[in-house]
Amino acid sequence: MAYQPHYFTEVREAQSRAYVPYSKFKVGAFLKTKDGQSFYGANVENAAYPMTICAERSSLVSAISQGYRPGDFESITITVDADEPSSPCGACRQVLKELCDDDMPVYMTNQTGKVIESTVEQLLPLGFSGKDLN
Ligand code: THU
Repeated sequence: MAYQPHYFTEVREAQSRAYVPYSKFKVGAFLKTKDGQSFYGANVENAAYPMTICAERSSLVSAISQGYRPGDFESITITVDADEPSSPCGACRQVLKELCDDDMPVYMTNQTGKVIESTVEQLLPLGFSGKDLN
């Protein structure tokens, strides 16, 4: 267990942008590219609850929309306000698998700066990917 990930300030800033009128549970994501660019993500909820977009996917979709591609990402840092850092939901794990290297670090943190480090592969072992379609 470590304290204060490299991008703690940035991910907390990302979290502050969350739109969460229903759950009030703010999630932030900070995606760093290998060439040094930064993408901020936050959860964006909807009155039609399933339409909600998670913070992790928000940051990834933003980066892809700006022209980044699978293989371009260095790390993602996620933050919540909770006793323990929480980890990406199943849908976000699948999208991480699609767009990020299997060994890309995933840093999960909370307001105290506590950090749990994992990787895409560890979060979705034996995950389905484009390779399975060949
Ligand atoms: N949420 C995320 O943003 N990321 C996750 O991986 C888990 C859940 C959001 C969705 C919803 O706005 C709120 O957290 C409560 O589920």
